[in-house]
Amino acid sequence: MYNAVIKGTGHFTPEHVLTNADLEKIVDTSDEWIVTRTGIHERRVLNGSENIGGSGMASRAAASALEDAGVDPKDIDAIIVATVTPDFRLPSTATLVQQNLGIGRAALMDIVAACAGFIYGLSIARAFIMTGTYKNVLVTGVEHLTSITNYEDRNTCVLFGDGAGSAVVSRGPKGNGNAGILSTFLSGDGQYKDLLHIPLGGSRFPLTKETVNSPGRHIYMDGREIFKLAVKEMGDAAERVLADAGMEASDVDMVIPHQANNRIIQALGKRLKIGPERVYTNIGLYGNTSSASVPIALDEARRNGLIGSGSVVLSVAFGGGLVWGAALYRL
Ligand code: ACO
Repeated sequence: MYNAVIKGTGHFTPEHVLTNADLEKIVDTSDEWIVTRTGIHERRVLNGSENIGGSGMASRAAASALEDAGVDPKDIDAIIVATVTPDFRLPSTATLVQQNLGIGRAALMDIVAACAGFIYGLSIARAFIMTGTYKNVLVTGVEHLTSITNYEDRNTCVLFGDGAGSAVVSRGPKGNGNAGILSTFLSGDGQYKDLLHIPLGGSRFPLTKETVNSPGRHIYMDGREIFKLAVKEMGDAAERVLADAGMEASDVDMVIPHQANNRIIQALGKRLKIGPERVYTNIGLYGNTSSASVPIALDEARRNGLIGSGSVVLSVAFGGGLVWGAALYRL
């Protein structure tokens, strides 16, 4: 089996900043509540002036990852985009990224796994590469979450932001000890589907004249229930990928978790007995960007030198579905 190596990473976040003070003017909330309950200070919003859509954000993150990896766009065999906010229901965002970047014919697919989408994408890319099917797979998590956020609902509107993160996953030398995605674990449970969902606007309940402005076209979330499940399942998933790779938490140089809530991240660190200096957080700056959060954090941590060649990294994520997963990789 080949090793599947994360050869390059990139990210893009829009320029427009929405602060907690801005939100205090929109809903009944406070900077103090948001910071103590979530750790978020501000988030980025893709607004009209940037008018590039999720596909534009994904393309910029992906272009940066390709450059970082030194891989020619023409050598990409497959594009996987994880998103719950595609530009269009048809075609996929992956097809738009292919066109934007001048990538040649390739397998093009979007996957819907909410905040766990990038981990799902990494796992799929790894399987393609380990089995020898493809040499280079571009995996991108991108969300334009503010386009589906209800700015009259204080339970959710303080949490979400926009952005994209990308990784080039390539065939690498075989053998233990070399760079590669060491193990992945994906799971989910549809019994919790109503805890986090968008009730209207799909083919089952299309928007009508009567519902086009109703809250049902936005994200609904039961945060309290999800919080409890996230803490348990993220911990279990992390332990599972460590065990599968024959490693201990002490072997991990950096945990790069999904950024949904600082308290969830802290609980994960505590359970794994990994101190905050080895747990990367940037939620304060971006809020929850769903599938983009792990690759944005991964790229930041690499570019600011916290991790590099040889580092062992553990990523864990949890989101709507409910779905969750973890990936352990050596850079
Ligand atoms: N400002 C002020 N008060 C608020 C706000 C706000 N923005 N939002 C809620 N409150 C109030 C509530 O109304 C409630 O008041 P009450 O007790 O009078 O009813 C009180 O604050 C406490 O509410 P809780 O829901 O218990 O707050 P909690 O501490 O659980 O924090 C949060 C809420 C931040 C949403 C948390 O539950 C959480 O992070 N959950 C997990 C989210 C997650 O991981 N989602 C999955 C990924 S997202 C995706 O897939 C797109």
